[in-house]
Amino acid sequence: MTMKIRKAIFPAAGLGTRFLPATKAQPKEMLPLVDKPIIQYGVEEAMASGCDQIIIITGRGKQAIEDHFDVSYELEKMLEERKKTDLLQIVRSISDMIHVAYVRQKEALGLGHAVLMAKELVGNEPFAVLLADDVIDAEVPVLKQMVQVFEQTQCSVLATQMVEGKAISSYGVLDVKPVSGGQFANRLFEIKNMVEKPKPEDAPSKQAIIGRYILTPAIFECLSETAAGAGGELQLTDGMRLLLQKETMYAYVYEGRRHDTGDKLGFLKATVEFALKRADLGGPFREYLKGLKL
Ligand code: G1P
Repeated sequence: MTMKIRKAIFPAAGLGTRFLPATKAQPKEMLPLVDKPIIQYGVEEAMASGCDQIIIITGRGKQAIEDHFDVSYELEKMLEERKKTDLLQIVRSISDMIHVAYVRQKEALGLGHAVLMAKELVGNEPFAVLLADDVIDAEVPVLKQMVQVFEQTQCSVLATQMVEGKAISSYGVLDVKPVSGGQFANRLFEIKNMVEKPKPEDAPSKQAIIGRYILTPAIFECLSETAAGAGGELQLTDGMRLLLQKETMYAYVYEGRRHDTGDKLGFLKATVEFALKRADLGGPFREYLKGLKL
C-alpha cells in the first residue's frame, strides 16, 4: 500500500538570536519577506504539495504564530465595515488555510528533539519536515518535487544542494551514490552516510541537506535512541544516520532557488528578490534600485 504525505512539521521553537533585537519579543518566523511572514511561505508550500495537516513546534514567546493562523475577529470586522474586501480576503484566507496543531517544545534541545515532539500527532505514517528559514522559490514547490520521489520509492527523501568551500560546515553533509536512469536522473542519490556540521576537511562531499525532509515514522524510534551531538543538541542528522542502518534513504537535488532567511544577508537578498517579482511593487522598486549610486 502506498502512503500519502499529509502531515508537515514546522520546528519553530528556536530563539532567533541571529536577528536580535528584532526577535526579542517577536518570533523570527514572523519576520516578513515583503509583507508575508517567513513561516507562511513554508505553510503555503506544504499545502501546495498535498499536506493538509500542519504541526508547528513552538516554545515560549511564539504566540504570534498561533494568532497569525487563527481567526482575527476584530480585524475582520473592521475590514468588513470599511469595505476593504481585498484585505479581508487576504486575512481570511490565512485562517481558512489549514488545520494547524501546536506542540510546545519546553526547551530548545535541538532539531531532532523538536521533530520527536510531534511523534504522537504524526503516528505511524510518513511525514514532511520544513525548516521555515529556508525559503525556496521554485516553479514546482520543492516539497511537491520530493513527494513525487517518495511516491516512487516509498523511502525517506532529503532535499539537498551543492555547497562550496567552508560554508559546508553549516550543514548536514551527505555521502551519496548516484541513482542511474529513471525519471529523476542526475538529481537522485542513494545516501550512504551523513554527518552534521563537519569541518570542511571532514565533509564527505559538497552535498548539503537543505530544510525539507520526507521521513518515514521509523525516525521517531531512531531519535529516541540518539544521544546529543553537535552543539550539545539532539541532531536530526544523527537520528537519520540511525535510520539509514534500517532503511534506504534518498537525497534529491531540488530545482529552485533557496534563500537562507535565517541569515541577515540572506534575508535581505530574499526581500529584494521577492519585492522585484511582485506585480504591484516590482516596477517602482526596480526604478528605485537603479537610481541608487552603488
Ligand atoms: C539544520 C540542520 C542541518 C541542515 C540545515 C539546513 O541546521 O541541522 O543538517 O543542513 O538545517 O538549513 P541549522 O541551520 O538549524 O543549524
